Amino acid sequence: MTEVPEHLLERSRQRRAALSGGAAEAAPETAAPSAEASSSSAVAPAASAAAAVPAEPTPPPAPEPVPAYIEAAQSRKKIPVWVLPVVIFLPLWAFLYAGSLSEPEVELEGQLALGATVYQQCAGCHGATGGGGAGRQLNNGEVLLTFPTIEGQLEYVAVGTTGYSGKPYGDPDRPGGGHVGGSYGNMPAFLGTLTPDELLSVIRHEREVIGGEVIPAEQIGPDGELLHSNGEPYINDAGELVDENGELLLGETGFLINPGVGPTESGPVVAMAGP
Ligand code: HEC
Repeated sequence: MTEVPEHLLERSRQRRAALSGGAAEAAPETAAPSAEASSSSAVAPAASAAAAVPAEPTPPPAPEPVPAYIEAAQSRKKIPVWVLPVVIFLPLWAFLYAGSLSEPEVELEGQLALGATVYQQCAGCHGATGGGGAGRQLNNGEVLLTFPTIEGQLEYVAVGTTGYSGKPYGDPDRPGGGHVGGSYGNMPAFLGTLTPDELLSVIRHEREVIGGEVIPAEQIGPDGELLHSNGEPYINDAGELVDENGELLLGETGFLINPGVGPTESGPVVAMAGP
């Protein structure tokens, strides 16, 4: 039970005494039944005393305190003038910003854009960034080490492991040793599956985007297409892959018609090239 402090008891006793006109003082709680009567007789004085209570000087009602939130609203700084133009130009800025974000995609046009799309057929085995997997690693310069020129790679992707099974392809002197068809797995042949433009484009993606090959500016045409060093296109008006003299690059079987077009096409590849 909570102890009521003595001074509070004393105060309540005095208060009660004041209300009951001294009767309560003579009759504490523990008093004999006679106190009953005295306390009941004290009811009337108590009531009159209670009526007298409001007569006591009550302080005038304090002015209603202003709630904190109203006070805050009244004293808060107003919106600065410069906010309005900023708010107005925000959508314009957002529009321009969004435009600047899509810029790199605009640069990727023509063959490189097509190449990125076609590469999705290769990514399952070679990895989205060419890190390798079921297929050989292409990034970190690997694909350029195997194929110093694009012609050898065009041929290899056209004929796949079927065309090169058990035979060396690419540069036989590449660091780490020349690659032999089937030594890593089975690379599908893409001759006939891809159009010549798709084949060239996906290989450009592997060499330039994944492999980091830098093409001289004069070998990029007005539509971003690859040109030979003499300025002639790799894809002719008929949509065929051609060499710098306009002659067909790949034969019907997918092998290079003239294997001498690049340094990788010496040796074993020449032996393979006959129809
Ligand atoms: C089904 C898996 C698979 C797919 C799909 C695939 N490749 Fe391959 N690729 C391989 C394998 C396996 C090798 C190694 C082949 C071998 O050892 O003969 C390889 C090798 C290569 C190489 C030679 C790399 C080197 O350094 O020896 C190139 C280039 C290549 N692939 C390009 C492509 C392109 C381009 C595509 C898509 C159009 C593609 N690959 C799709 C599995 C695949």
